[in-house]
Amino acid sequence: MALPVVIGISGASGVIYGIETLKALCRMGMETHLILSHAGKTNIEIETNYSVQQVRKMATIVYEPEDMTAAVASGSFLTRGMLVAPCTIKTLSAIANSYNSNLLVRAADVTLKEKRPLVLMVRETPLHKGHLDLMSRAADLGAIILPPVPAFYHQPENIEDLIRQSVGKAFDLLKIEHNLFRRWGA
Ligand SMILES: Cc1cc2nc3c(=O)[nH]c(=O)nc-3n(C[C@H](O)[C@H](O)[C@H](O)COP(=O)(O)O)c2cc1C
Repeated sequence: MALPVVIGISGASGVIYGIETLKALCRMGMETHLILSHAGKTNIEIETNYSVQQVRKMATIVYEPEDMTAAVASGSFLTRGMLVAPCTIKTLSAIANSYNSNLLVRAADVTLKEKRPLVLMVRETPLHKGHLDLMSRAADLGAIILPPVPAFYHQPENIEDLIRQSVGKAFDLLKIEHNLFRRWGA
């Protein structure tokens, strides 16, 4: 049985990473449960040509960030894991401190306590020591910190190639088979 993947999109620059994730999983026919933060919705309008409604339609199930009755708020609901793409420093901070005041953070906390993979595409630059400490704390709890840092060994030809490489790295960590970029040695 293919378990659903939980996707969080928070309000960092790079909401396109979350959108490309949803598009790829949709193409693969995988079930996705999406939580969009309010700042994430704002950034979809600011940074992309997609409407929030279009992005919502890419997911199988969409929850409001206030909906603590959602399936993904409970560990008894089985999932493959969760990807937060992109992840703000604010959301990282909440996850690192189990400050479960919205569903995105609660779902991440559930993912950690159930020992499922939690991949955080943390996006901020430059980083002060507090940001680094939060990443270290989240990593100690079991989160995988995957900043969307582009690679060039696969010879990207456009921005989409760069985005897909980062999404592909996240899929590797979630053990989702994909063909999003050409691997080294392939
Ligand atoms: C255009 C834009 C870009 C932003 N980029 C970032 C970013 O890269 N990283 C970050 O931590 N916050 C960024 N922010 C600020 C967050 O959106 C803000 O802290 C927000 O409260 C985060 O809420 P959330 O974590 O619930 O989505 C950005 C805001 C805007 C409007």
